[in-house]
Amino acid sequence: MSAHQMLKVFVTRRIPQEGMKILQKASMCDLSLWDSDEPVPRAELLKGVAGAHGLICLLSDKIDTEVLDAAGPNLKVISTLSVGFDHLAIDEIKKRGIRVGYTPDVLTDATAELTVALLLATARRLPEGVEEVKNGGWSTWKPLWLCGYGLSGSTVGVIGLGRIGLAIARRLKPFGVKKLLYTGRKPKPEAEEVDGEYVPLDTLVRESDFVVVSCSLTPDTQGLCDKTFFGKMKKTSVFINTSRGAVVNQEDLFEALSSGQIAAAGLDVTSPEPLPTNHPLLTLKNCVVLPHIGSATYSTRGVMSELTANNLLAGLTGSEMPSELKM
Ligand code: NDP
Ligand code: DGY
Repeated sequence: MSAHQMLKVFVTRRIPQEGMKILQKASMCDLSLWDSDEPVPRAELLKGVAGAHGLICLLSDKIDTEVLDAAGPNLKVISTLSVGFDHLAIDEIKKRGIRVGYTPDVLTDATAELTVALLLATARRLPEGVEEVKNGGWSTWKPLWLCGYGLSGSTVGVIGLGRIGLAIARRLKPFGVKKLLYTGRKPKPEAEEVDGEYVPLDTLVRESDFVVVSCSLTPDTQGLCDKTFFGKMKKTSVFINTSRGAVVNQEDLFEALSSGQIAAAGLDVTSPEPLPTNHPLLTLKNCVVLPHIGSATYSTRGVMSELTANNLLAGLTGSEMPSELKM
């Protein structure tokens, strides 16, 4: 392809080499990369995207009207290295006829696995236990020390039984979960596989011993888990969120955890990210916070990177994308 036919592509971060190799091999791309593991500064993003035909971005890059204007009319495709797309101004993108690629399915297992790990770590107080071993707090075996809550015989409520929600339910059932409740916009035929019972949110929150949030972040789910929500939960119940931080009102969660309104919380996602190290939630023993590592296995990130590159190339050539977001 001659230089003038090359299509300009801006990549907002170092991505796993699997995807980079695909992009480098594609002779049609004039690639420019924010060559860092840290987020691209806004000014550099606006500069880098100017005139681009394709953009590869991450969930930490806010792709709004300002970025789209900075890109200009060449922009044909945005490919995000994530399944979540709440960082993209979808209405504006659609209006401009830009196609979007994303990474569903390939990260479902890794994220579900991490959710189960976080649930068990939170409910059985693993970080506290590890800390006690290190700091000399472990004096002897004590009948009531570091007791938590088990899954056997419990009721689990999943908010958003999508790809990841269902994969979480499948993994939790063999722990002896007695009842699996779920809520969302509509009942799901696939819930049958896990004996899932579709219930109103209010019922789920009141009856569940474990509330697991795995919905997408939308205007309807923003701030869904607030004072009223936590107020309905049992005092012995555990709250887990691996969706997006903004689904939770964190001041209300702090209040619920510190007052004993709920037993514990495990969060893989927060608002903002990173959570400032002096954030009140980090002072609580009954709150386990992870740095958004749901999909973080080497193989998953490699496949996500490949898919992101292939989505981009398909968007540039006007062909069918392996995973295109239906807008
Ligand atoms: P899906 O689209 O398959 O699932 C999203 C679910 O959210 C759907 O079941 C949908 O229900 C539900 N939902 C939407 N609106 C509401 C609502 N108002 N109330 C309750 N449920 C609602 O996506 P995935 O399962 O693949 O991913 C889900 C989310 O997980 C992503 O959007 C992302 O934010 C997050 N994620 C986090 C990761 C991490 O590292 N922690 C890794 C990967 C994803 P319905 O079908 O009825 O519309
Ligand atoms: C996503 O894909 O939306 C996650 O949050 C990161 O894998």
